[in-house]
Amino acid sequence: MQYYESETRILIIGSGAREHALGKKIKDGKPERRIFFLPGNGGTKTTGTNITHVSPSDFDSVLQLIMEYKIQLVVVGPEKPLVDGLTDFLRENSIAVFGPSKEASKIESDKSFAKKLMIRAGVPTASFKEFSRSEYQEALEFIEQHALPVVIKASGLAAGKGVIIADTVEEAKVAVTDIFENNIFGDAGDTIVVEEFMKGEEASVFAVTDGESFALLPPAQDHKRIGNNDTGKNTGGMGAYSPAVLVNDSTMQIIAEKIIRPVLHQMKMEGYLFSGCLYAGLMLTDNGPKVVEFNCRFGDPETQSVMEVIEGDFLKLLTDSAAGKVEPGTITYNGMSSVTVVTASSGYPGTFETGYEISGLDQLPEDVTVYHAGTNESEGKILTSGGRVLSITGVSRKGCLSEAIKKTYSAVEKISYKNIYYRNDIGEKGLKYSGD
Ligand code: AMP
Ligand code: GLY
Repeated sequence: MQYYESETRILIIGSGAREHALGKKIKDGKPERRIFFLPGNGGTKTTGTNITHVSPSDFDSVLQLIMEYKIQLVVVGPEKPLVDGLTDFLRENSIAVFGPSKEASKIESDKSFAKKLMIRAGVPTASFKEFSRSEYQEALEFIEQHALPVVIKASGLAAGKGVIIADTVEEAKVAVTDIFENNIFGDAGDTIVVEEFMKGEEASVFAVTDGESFALLPPAQDHKRIGNNDTGKNTGGMGAYSPAVLVNDSTMQIIAEKIIRPVLHQMKMEGYLFSGCLYAGLMLTDNGPKVVEFNCRFGDPETQSVMEVIEGDFLKLLTDSAAGKVEPGTITYNGMSSVTVVTASSGYPGTFETGYEISGLDQLPEDVTVYHAGTNESEGKILTSGGRVLSITGVSRKGCLSEAIKKTYSAVEKISYKNIYYRNDIGEKGLKYSGD
């Protein structure tokens, strides 16, 4: 492989549309920036180089690859390698890496840990009680006394599926039995959190941080359910838009000072500094924003939308996070509005078929970008290879949400593959706040 002295070489771990969007933003059209994806997907090849001969879970081989490719910064996209300790391993080997330590990633991988941390930090969240498997009876008794609806959560990582909102005591008891007795979430269900149901609209806010100083990116709103009007099963996310106009400047201020800052401070004080992207999943209640969950990484599909509405040197922000010196003003809002529609394989989040050719990718209108997720390339064709296949993101340069929705859907309609499925209402929730 040919290297140039002036090049900056970045390795992005992951294979989703989030990583594609991060890669494109980091590249920023600059030839002197070389992006490598481990492993990437059928679309990331247009932004950088896919590396498929090394497994991201084989840390020694990842380190060898970093040395061989003279990588200057590693950006970890998904939670799994973070929770498995990849960043710790790389740091021990003096590699610059964006992403929290294994210990700090518990803020996502251990809901019980996250809830207790929030209490110690004085961060607003739903009231809760935790129960271990041996406290099955106590959990059932607690539920009998609890207000409805009640929320039951597996404490461990359950790919976004570990949350049950029960409208009746009966349903709640079935959920507890399913987790503890029928083991539906395996070890992730060794402990459960039973919590108060919070009413309101949800929003996602990303804080890029060195553990103390942080830059807040424009807020986004995800659409987690598979069906229009937020019906049906929970998914990884079926679409997003940014900025989420329902989060106004004064709410952002509250989020910064009452949620992000105290939790970062608490983590630092307790000896597990969080550097990377702290993702706050929030409920905007009548009593102000409250935390639904924290994640230890950028969200997907929110990132695809957020990357389109920021300006400034994003690579510098990530490098500064890794180096422990984030400057909050590095990134600013660019005045645009963006909408991301996820196209999936019909059947997702259950079973689905793959291997179908995608057409229409070369007919996209101006101001629309397609980020790939479940795709691969074979003999010059792009084929479906997963549940969430593409993230199609359109922008309105004048910051008009309704225009961004129109542009995005006009592009979505040009894409076709067998069994394509997408929601028709992404972004509409925002129209009542945007006034356009
Ligand atoms: P989580 O995996 O914790 O993000 O939860 C998944 C989804 O369940 C959230 O995005 C919310 O829509 C919903 N949810 C979780 N906890 C609560 C709660 N305490 N009150 C209301 N909805 C909740
Ligand atoms: N958009 C939800 C997530 O990334 O977890």
